[in-house]
Order: sequence, then structure tokens, then C-alpha cells
Amino acid sequence: MGEGMIDAAGTLAIRPIRGLAGTYRPPGDKSISHRALIIGALAEGETSITGLAPGGDVASTSTCLQKLGVDIRHQRDDGVTFVTGAGAKGLRPAVKPLFCGNSGTTARLLAGVIAGQGIPAVLTGDASLTRRPMSRIAEPLRAMGAMAELTSDGTLPMRINPGPLKGICWQSPVASAQVKSALLFAGLGAEGPTELTEPVRSRDHTERMLIDFGAMIETSHAENGEDPYTVRIMPDFLLRAREISVPGDISSAIYLVVAALLCPESDLTLSGVGMNPGRRGALDVLIRMGADIAIEDEHSTGNEPVATLRVRHSRLYGTEISGLTTTWLIDEIPALAVAAAFADGETHITDVLELRKKESDRISAIVSNLLNMGVEVSEHDEGFTLRGGSDCPGAAFDSFGDHRIALAFHVAALACRGESTIRNYGIAEVSWPDFPAVVCDLESS
Ligand code: S3P
Repeated sequence: MGEGMIDAAGTLAIRPIRGLAGTYRPPGDKSISHRALIIGALAEGETSITGLAPGGDVASTSTCLQKLGVDIRHQRDDGVTFVTGAGAKGLRPAVKPLFCGNSGTTARLLAGVIAGQGIPAVLTGDASLTRRPMSRIAEPLRAMGAMAELTSDGTLPMRINPGPLKGICWQSPVASAQVKSALLFAGLGAEGPTELTEPVRSRDHTERMLIDFGAMIETSHAENGEDPYTVRIMPDFLLRAREISVPGDISSAIYLVVAALLCPESDLTLSGVGMNPGRRGALDVLIRMGADIAIEDEHSTGNEPVATLRVRHSRLYGTEISGLTTTWLIDEIPALAVAAAFADGETHITDVLELRKKESDRISAIVSNLLNMGVEVSEHDEGFTLRGGSDCPGAAFDSFGDHRIALAFHVAALACRGESTIRNYGIAEVSWPDFPAVVCDLESS
């Protein structure tokens, strides 16, 4: 029995498995799902979304948009979600603060939407979200003319008051798709074009989807380039409702990929996985580590590339992960750290300071769990170095209230020799509520 039960204290017990086999389509992409709901809400007409991501984060975006007057209907029988667009200036002010739960994407993207719509609102979130930096959003919105107040620490709640917006040229010090998207959404309602330059292109789902809906967007970059990237949006373009089919989430698929690589009897096929260039960096790293991953049937769904992955158990070797392109695998570092813990040799991960600003301080959460496994690991300001080759008999892990830490160390537990536990496992719900059941279904007999 691979499917564990969370006990009354919130701890999940997990025993090792021999392998994962069969074919599976991972749940819908979380980043794309947030954008599908938001852009659908800003469009004219009814947008239909197939394969919306499960979990609390996307539900937070849906609930907040409903509180802003958007009609969103989830059809349970065929899994299609319908969004009746409110149009360019159609959102109405929310009476109470908008609760974004654990979801940074909800808070940051909606801040831009609200400023662009010229309506007042207060955005807030749970204990983890209200610790995360929000000045990176408030500062450019203020430069555009919106009033965006934060606490003295630069955190939520954020109070936004309407003001006429003017387009700006913003130089973002971090490559952040959330900052970029907030500015693009605000730019839709500004006077004149809005432009943002980031050190390297972050995931570009917002640009792709806005273009698909009819927005006027220009970008400057070399395909797959590591150079600074500039995007520019013209205001007042009519967005027209579309049918969206959400690709499978590579950031979720990665847990099954790493589990299949580590567990000896694995031969797993994952279909319909999103392959956005700003998201697939972890696959390149794993292949460099010796992973047997075949990328097949590459094609496009809407404006997004997708592919099928065939993953077989492999012997892995340590590697180095560094530089600006860590942006393209930042959410996958917890899973990559687990792969590295079982690989031969040292792995050195640096230039990932942003990990300290996620749902938890992911550098210290990873290091703490690796130490519990008996892995030799040292923490640096901007990353960590570990010696692989773990033969862990089982360990007591902690999620640190972070879904990606819970899921990554669930995978570590599958590859240990004996039973492990994960404290506060319930947080995995924000991105993948039924991961334990999926592992159970795919466990090779
Ligand atoms: C996301 C962007 C990334 C990523 C997050 C989702 C998005 O954050 O880490 O999980 O959907 O735009 P940053 O924009 O802070 O890099």
C-alpha cells in the first residue's frame, strides 16, 4: 500500500516503493491556470478552461476574482471551467480584503490587475504569504501612479487605491514572472505603453496567453537566450475570450520524474507535460546528471509547448547548478536536491537566493531535511553543497509549511530503505492534493 494517511497531528508515514510504471497525465499547470482565470476575467465573452490545476492556490485566484464580480463556474462532470469576462474595466471593488491564502502568484498578479482596473482593494494572505516580499510589486505600481501601501516590512496586506496610471519603463532587478505579469496587467489599463526589462527571461505564460487573447505585446530576446529580456504592452487592446487547454504541470511532474529515476523498477510515461522554455531547466539538469528521460511528441497546445516524457530508473551523478538560468528551474530545486542526495558525488547549487523568499526559506528547509537523512550538506547564503550517495534507512522530515518541500521529501521517502514520516504534510494540498493516491496507482507491482 503506497497511499499513506495523514494522522491527526498532520504527519504522513511513507514506505519505500520498488518503482513507478504506466502512463499518467500530470495535473494542470498552476502558473497557466492562474493566468487563464485572470485573463479570462479581463476578456470580452466566455472563456472555457480544460484541465485547470487542482489545489488551494488556483482556488484562491478563483475566489478572489469572484469577489471582484467575475462569474466563474466549475463544471464537475467534465472538468471544464467557464469564466464570463468582465471586460477591460468591468471588475467591481471588493467589500472585504481579498484573501490570497498561500498563493504569491494570486497576490502579486491580482495587485497588477486591480491597479489596471482602477478599483480599490486590500490583498492579504496566510502566515507564510504575509511574510513574503511585496515591494517588488508595489514599487513599480506606484511609479505608474497607483497608490499601493504595504506594512513597514514591505509585506501584505497591500492596500491599493485607484489613480490614473501611466506607462513606464521598469528595470526589474530580479527575473520574476510575477513582477512582469503584474506590470503587464496594470499596463493594460495605463496611458501609453508599459515596458519591463528583466535580467533573463522568466516564464512567459502571461505574454503567450495575452497575445493569444489579442493583446498587443512586443518582446526582445534571443530564443532560449540568457540575455536581458524586454517586454512591452500597449494599453486598451480588446481581449477576446478563448478556449484554453491547460498543459500538465512540469513543476508537479518533476516529483514523479525524480521518483522514477531513483526507484529501481521504474518505467514511467508522463503525457501532455508543459515545456515552456522558462520552466524546463530541471529536465536538462537531470539529463546532465545521467537521467534516462526521453522527450517525445513535442507539439503545441494553444501558445504553449508540450511533450511526453518517458523516464526510466537511472544511475545519477552530482552536478553544478548556477547562474541566471537557475530562474528556469527555481521551483524544481527541492526535487533536484533530492535527486542529488541519491546521486554519486558532490552537487553544488548556487545563485538561488530567491529560494529564501518562497513559501518557506527553501534553502534552509532543504538543508535541514537532508541533514535528517544523514546527508553531508553545507548551507551558503545563495545555495548549498551536498555529497550524494545516500543510503538512508528512513527519516523524519518536515514540510516547513511549504508544498514543494512536502512533495520533494515525499519522493526522498519513496527512495529510502525504510519508513519515513513528513510533518505538516497537509500543505501539499495547495498544488497537488492527491499525490499520495497517484503514487499508489502508479506503483509497479
Ligand atoms: C510563478 C513565478 C515564480 C515561481 C512561482 C510561480 C508564476 O515566482 O517561483 O512558483 O506563476 O508567475 P517569481 O515570479 O517570484 O520568480
